[in-house]
Amino acid sequence: MKKFLELISEEMGKGFEAAGYEAQLGRVTVSNRPDLCEYQCNGAMAGAKKYHKAPIMIANDVAEKLTDSAVFSEASAVAPGFLNLKVKDSFVCEYLKEMAAAEKFGVEPPEKKKTIVVDYGGPNVAKPLHVGHLRSAVIGESIKRINRYKGHRVIGDVHLGDWGLQMGLIITELKARKPELPYFDESFTGEYPQEAPFTVSELEEIYPTASGKSKEDPAYKEAALEATLRLQSGDRGYRALWKHIIAVSVADLKKNYSNLDVEFDLWKGESDADPLIPGLVNRLKESGLAYESQGALVVDVKEDTDTKEMPPCIILKSDGAALYATTDLATIVDRMENLHADSLIYLADKRQEMHFVQVFRVAKKAGLVTPETELKYVGFGTMNGKDGKPFKTREGGVMRLEYLIRDIDEEMYRKVSESRHDLSEEEARKIAKIIGLSAIKYGDLSNQASKDYIFDIDRFTSFEGDTGPYILYTIVRIKSILAKYQEQGKSLENLCLEEAQGASEKDLMRQLCSFNAMMDSACEETAPHKICAYIYDLANAFNKFYHETKILAEEDQKKQAGWIALLKLTKEVLETCIDVLGFSAPDRM
Ligand code: ARG
Repeated sequence: MKKFLELISEEMGKGFEAAGYEAQLGRVTVSNRPDLCEYQCNGAMAGAKKYHKAPIMIANDVAEKLTDSAVFSEASAVAPGFLNLKVKDSFVCEYLKEMAAAEKFGVEPPEKKKTIVVDYGGPNVAKPLHVGHLRSAVIGESIKRINRYKGHRVIGDVHLGDWGLQMGLIITELKARKPELPYFDESFTGEYPQEAPFTVSELEEIYPTASGKSKEDPAYKEAALEATLRLQSGDRGYRALWKHIIAVSVADLKKNYSNLDVEFDLWKGESDADPLIPGLVNRLKESGLAYESQGALVVDVKEDTDTKEMPPCIILKSDGAALYATTDLATIVDRMENLHADSLIYLADKRQEMHFVQVFRVAKKAGLVTPETELKYVGFGTMNGKDGKPFKTREGGVMRLEYLIRDIDEEMYRKVSESRHDLSEEEARKIAKIIGLSAIKYGDLSNQASKDYIFDIDRFTSFEGDTGPYILYTIVRIKSILAKYQEQGKSLENLCLEEAQGASEKDLMRQLCSFNAMMDSACEETAPHKICAYIYDLANAFNKFYHETKILAEEDQKKQAGWIALLKLTKEVLETCIDVLGFSAPDRM
């Protein structure tokens, strides 16, 4: 379905043409003076030079041609040459009717359906998820859903950090604690036990302990490095133990992500790239790109236009070990060959920017991807506490994601049970969880991803203002009106939208009209915050209309049904938006 602004720009273009000017000048935008008009066109200003005429003369000529337009109820030329516009109620109403009937409310399928891999989450095995992992999961999930809604084939991959030194550290510590385990017995040839020799909580305690020891004790670090190498070169016992570590950790991660309504299609990790590394290294060597520098194998990635320092990308260290960039490059090979990706989107902390610039450049230079393959890195900012420093627990430690979610749920439960005495505790907790998730996700997504933001539980959980709970509250309010309408014995089927009667109703309708354009730009720009801004405006427009209108008491049935149709569409659009943002609304709250 054509976008609303495109349609009215076309009409404006016809006005320009009829007056003897070029149609391209008729580009219409939303008014930046809503007190004066709904839309505006600055084409007369732009045309002044070409036509050697004062802009106001052009604007006057055009306005005259639009006096009986089917689209504009008002097109007035104002000094120095703007065209101030209002759109006819009938035109808005017809557009909304088409939108309500259209698939995906008028969002067109993509011209070319792409296969997009979204690499997000990125947790490291055996370390508990902490608040730093929240953003990657929340933003990535939304980007995945937005692209899917648009109609692309989207694959979400968690890309576990399951290779490298951290695994060696854990194995070293386990060996120190339980040397009797068969995994450490080189002469053991039997079957290893099915059951892991540790629990998640043990595992979570082991990693920080080992990491602490290795910083203090060089011999310990040496042992961990050796264990890493031994794991990577395929030691049978180490591999078996490592599989346990992953299995235990992944089961726990799945639970955590599912609490966040985050779901991955692939649970691959850095380790899956390992078998592809020798082939990758050969390709880089054969193409002449990789060369030896101080014993390491590197690829130059500097470009003339660089303003920042851009060191070469290290492929292999002097001891032959692969690095973060190496596994990422090998993973690209996998995604190209096995998933046939057209586009790769990565979510990671914005401090990793240089890493991704290096990796992308090597991938392009070495032809691991085609020149058309899109490689996009979405670097996100830090989640800070109210003091403006990275979010911590009250004691100053790293906050586990689990506890953060628990705190929000508690706060939400307190609010829900305060206002709804009629709910059982179980119901109130269930509702609190749904609202809590909206508070967390909306609080995060409403900021542009690259910016740092302050995680403010009080503000995020508020039912008023630019928050998730406010959006849910609006949806629930509409649901309740629709239910009451049905209780009056009337049906929600075959409702027909009517032309707006008043200003707030028209504002709501116009806000709905921009849905498909908004969704497309959120998708193209990987910008979930645009959806948040849109639904906040939409919710405000609805609430203003609602406060001015006695919908359920209206006696004119046709008028009432028109309003109900408008409410239904508003609700559906809001629900679609929160779904792509990654949360949902309860039936009541
Ligand atoms: N595990 C990494 C970290 O904790 C994030 C992974 C991001 N994805 C990637 N393909 N490099 O920093």
